[in-house]
Amino acid sequence: MPNITGFGVIGAGTWGELHARTYATTPGARLAALCDLDGNRLAAVNAAAGGGARLYADYRALLADPSVTAVSIVLPDFLHRAAAVAAAEAGKHILLEKPLATTEADALAILAAARANNVTLMVDFHNRWSPPFYALKVACDSGELGALQTISYRLNDTLYVPTQMLRWSAQSSVAWFLASHCLDTLLWLTGARAGNDAVERVYSVARSQVLHTLGIDTPDFYQTILEFRSGLVVHLENAWILPEGAPSIFELKCEVIGAGGAYYIDGSLHGAQKITARTIYPDALVAPIVHGKPVGFATESIRHFAHAIIDGAPPIVDGLDGLAATRLVLAMEESTRRAAPVAVGDLWST
Ligand SMILES: NC(=O)c1ccc[n+]([C@@H]2O[C@H](COP(=O)([O-])OP(=O)(O)OC[C@H]3O[C@@H](n4cnc5c(N)ncnc54)[C@H](O)[C@@H]3O)[C@@H](O)[C@H]2O)c1
Repeated sequence: MPNITGFGVIGAGTWGELHARTYATTPGARLAALCDLDGNRLAAVNAAAGGGARLYADYRALLADPSVTAVSIVLPDFLHRAAAVAAAEAGKHILLEKPLATTEADALAILAAARANNVTLMVDFHNRWSPPFYALKVACDSGELGALQTISYRLNDTLYVPTQMLRWSAQSSVAWFLASHCLDTLLWLTGARAGNDAVERVYSVARSQVLHTLGIDTPDFYQTILEFRSGLVVHLENAWILPEGAPSIFELKCEVIGAGGAYYIDGSLHGAQKITARTIYPDALVAPIVHGKPVGFATESIRHFAHAIIDGAPPIVDGLDGLAATRLVLAMEESTRRAAPVAVGDLWST
């Protein structure tokens, strides 16, 4: 009988369910354990993943389970540090949901714990598996687009996300929840970590009116300019206040202009529309369920981690990528507070 690697999921909420179902349907892997404070969620997610996982209310008990080799940590953004450090100290490999952490101290503590305990740490920046972004990366690397000049990048959610989907939205922000994805994508596209480019300055403006009026104390949006050493200028928009009647829960556009060509992504329209009393764009790209199994690029990212652990290979996204994105979101916040551009240093130094 072939070896089957046991995976645990800490946090069985909206996104934890995808992690659980992905492990349960990945050859060579099995969903060994699930943890959540909410017993109803535990039962529902276990059932959706085929049953059979050991269920825990306390993640420390899950981390003591010898049938678990690696864990996904899918807790609210501001709770990542304690669980990630405990997982590393228990010798479990970690797939940590983005953002790595919401403070520099938390980010560095997680990286130090992973290093000290020699465990693999991946941050779930799944855009790297998105077919339109991957094709853009290939076009950038081949030189086909020439030197990048401008990028206009918009990733917004409808009001549903901060008002209904996330009970903890006031303890996070659209910058942590959405901009962290975009910032990792930009660093990846430009080859910044390999030294091919660097962010020199970040200028962000945020406003708090709509959500504040609804009793949720977190910014409505950030409008951000990132200046790169190469001359590339990026305009990044992240808002949490699209109307709930929008046809998709998120809106994604990325328009790249290089000296030799342009590349446009519209990621909100997945090539499918369902029209009944209203029109919606069903998810056909991110994490749809096909014949009972999750597929799509967000699933691919989780499967990549599973394969990395099973094969003993390093994942293509690691903790340092998470640190870089965390530092850029912190720069956005600082710029907003100072109402001025903020200079950016080395994003990867520990
Ligand atoms: N990669 C993506 O595109 C993506 C999408 C959605 C969410 N996320 C990230 O995933 C994480 C979770 O988001 P979500 O939308 O699933 O949130 P959620 O609120 O739906 O789920 C969080 C779960 O954690 C549980 N929980 C809270 N504290 C706990 C504790 N101490 N011990 C055990 N369980 C605990 C809650 O009961 C809840 O079920 C966040 O970091 C978020 O940013 C990523």
